Amino acid sequence: MFATTDLAGTKPEQYTQLLAQARALVADESDRIANAANLSALVYHALPQLNWVGFYFFDGTELVVGPFQGLPACVRIPLDKGVCGAAARTRRTQRVDDVDAFEGHIACDSASRSELVVPLYAGDTLIGVFDIDSPVTHRFDDDDQAGLEAIAKCFLSTCRAELPA
Ligand code: SME
Repeated sequence: MFATTDLAGTKPEQYTQLLAQARALVADESDRIANAANLSALVYHALPQLNWVGFYFFDGTELVVGPFQGLPACVRIPLDKGVCGAAARTRRTQRVDDVDAFEGHIACDSASRSELVVPLYAGDTLIGVFDIDSPVTHRFDDDDQAGLEAIAKCFLSTCRAELPA
């Protein structure tokens, strides 16, 4: 059984603990669905004020929803749409303090007020995105971005075995 421990200390210290839990959770497993599912659950339950945490995977044409925690979500997102599409297209993390101010934001869960989307690339190959939504505006700061990018990197490192060379 995987036992989580409550995060403690400063925010960077909490993310260090969360990353250690993430690494332990995906250690010795390369299946991307399994690892995406467990990392979604870990982050969703460890961090406060989140209403959706999950993965979209690139199918060669668009982003398709993968494992997540939260309400049922939009299944397919074209690369020219939404915060997720912007992250995939620009290869840069999108941190949106107020989704109502982001033109083209796709409201899967009407409760979402702010959002952080980390692009998942293996070299030049788009794997997908890691998407985290909050019901409060301005939920994500620099520490959250760095911490969640580290979790995304942890995910990518585990699925390398099944990626194209
Ligand atoms: N809001 C996202 C869509 C995905 S849901 O948040 C789960 C977007 O604008 O791309």
